Amino acid sequence: MQFRLEPLLSAGQVDELRQALLAEDVPWRDGAETAGWHARAVKRNRQLDPGSSLHQTLASALSDRLLQHPLLQAAALPVRLHNLRFSRCGVGEGYGRHVDNAFMAGGRSDLSFTLFLSEADQYDGGALVLEDPGGESPLRLPAGHALVYPSSLLHRVEPVTRGERLVAVGWIQSRVRRSDRRELLFELDTARRALFQEQGKDEIFDLLSRSYANLLRMWGE
Ligand code: NI
Repeated sequence: MQFRLEPLLSAGQVDELRQALLAEDVPWRDGAETAGWHARAVKRNRQLDPGSSLHQTLASALSDRLLQHPLLQAAALPVRLHNLRFSRCGVGEGYGRHVDNAFMAGGRSDLSFTLFLSEADQYDGGALVLEDPGGESPLRLPAGHALVYPSSLLHRVEPVTRGERLVAVGWIQSRVRRSDRRELLFELDTARRALFQEQGKDEIFDLLSRSYANLLRMWGE
């Protein structure tokens, strides 16, 4: 299941973040340094030095923001959010077809996210393309919007042909490893919340809540 946080950041927050990232003397490095051995051959971008104090400040604020988002909490059931990176692609840069590593220094990658930080009219190309059995979906979301998608998919970033594409990416380790189980829990949770809104805490709500809690106990880790 993929879902969008629309928006995660306001226009003002995106502006602030963009200004901090694009200021002079910001340490950008070749993105291939943090790619797995097979992805390195197709990764063409630059990333904010993850060891810099600027990265640590911005990444920690953004992680908190993501983890506090109610839709992310309900749909992703996060244990932790890890390996957040700020990435930019200029003309001719992109990221060829690859699958993300299952395990990284910060944890398991169950879900990947991309937060778009450039306005769609500031660049051409640069679409995030997810490959799934139903076909391909090229995505260019407005600045401040984030896409969360299963890390199990092959995906790519098409080459930028004009301007610059600035994003933040990262991974989520979920309490529930399997995507189908996570989706079922999300639907059950959504249903019981809707019921609560309409009818309050009645007997059906209690039964649904019990099923939700017990499935989470059964499948969660
Ligand atoms: Ni990737």
